[in-house]
Amino acid sequence: MKSEALVLGIETSCDETAIGIVRGRTLLANVIASSVDEHARFGGVVPEVASRAHLEAIIPALDRAIKEAKISFADLDALAVTAGPGLIGALLVGTSSATGLVLASGKPIYAVNHLAAHVSVDALTHDAPLRPTIALLVSGGHSSLLKINDITGNIEKLGQTLDDAAGEAFDKIARLLELGFPGGPAIDALAKSGKKDAIDFPRGLTHAKDSEKHLFDFSFSGLKTAVARYIEATPTAKKSDVAASFQEAVVDVLISKALLACTQSGIDSLVIAGGVAANSRLREVAAERAAKSGVELRIPAPLLCTDNGAMVAALGSLMVSAGASASTIDFSADSAMSVLEVAR
Ligand code: KG4
Ligand code: ZN
Repeated sequence: MKSEALVLGIETSCDETAIGIVRGRTLLANVIASSVDEHARFGGVVPEVASRAHLEAIIPALDRAIKEAKISFADLDALAVTAGPGLIGALLVGTSSATGLVLASGKPIYAVNHLAAHVSVDALTHDAPLRPTIALLVSGGHSSLLKINDITGNIEKLGQTLDDAAGEAFDKIARLLELGFPGGPAIDALAKSGKKDAIDFPRGLTHAKDSEKHLFDFSFSGLKTAVARYIEATPTAKKSDVAASFQEAVVDVLISKALLACTQSGIDSLVIAGGVAANSRLREVAAERAAKSGVELRIPAPLLCTDNGAMVAALGSLMVSAGASASTIDFSADSAMSVLEVAR
């Protein structure tokens, strides 16, 4: 295999039908068709609606990506597809399309983990391969702290959320503030005109008593309740202050724990990935505090933080250059695929 493998990645785990094409560590195409508008009136992603939208969008998205990358399908060295975790009906549209393409073309396929793919997208922004690093993975469905020894197959879990994912917390608070769905970008925008120290919201699992069992775990349900109570008790509260203070509480906990994980494990490298990594305040605080701690910080560009196909292609490309064996065609999608299983 050439060292600069040309890989097409397919992502359909939630509401984005996304196709990315990379050559080695270079991004050639990143097509994202989102069905988010179809879910907005329900206040969250409706699985059946997402699956149908994927079915309609996937072939046009494939065509557009190939055109955008100025390649032909025959040029591809390998395919990669998200096998999980995610909504099972949504995943199946991607995996069965990928299987069809493999049957027709005989190309190798890598059935990869969506969460590992979020971290792998780093390869498209940095030429230097990741050293062993701590990764803070914060998306709509997952929040965890990982120790990445090798993104193509050696990941350790240090901690995770005990209840809501960080993105889910943003989405729920946005609903309380009547900001629509998805909530993360709306809170990010509104918080810019609010006071981040207006309200002292709780920082979950950061007390001395939590340090023994939950040093690297997260919990956002107490924060959510505190925000709900505050809004109820303070009808005159400025929404922007609530948004900014809530966001500050989430960001503070995420970055504090991520940097503590670096210090404790003697690793001076931190990657932040997943949809919430697009948050402007999180990026700001992470940059300030990582610099103070002497930790090298890597955060993908905002468009590569939220779900996309480029990240799946990037992980496929890293698997090819690591000489990893491809998946067999009978691989299955897994809605609860563990973050420790990079590919199947
Ligand atoms: O990684 P992602 O696109 O999908 C999942 O794998 O879940 O993450 C989506 C989540 C949503 O909860 C969304 O509200 C959140 O990421 N998000 C943000 C921002 N952009 C997206 N949260 C905070 N600030 C943002 N700018
Ligand atoms: Zn994601």
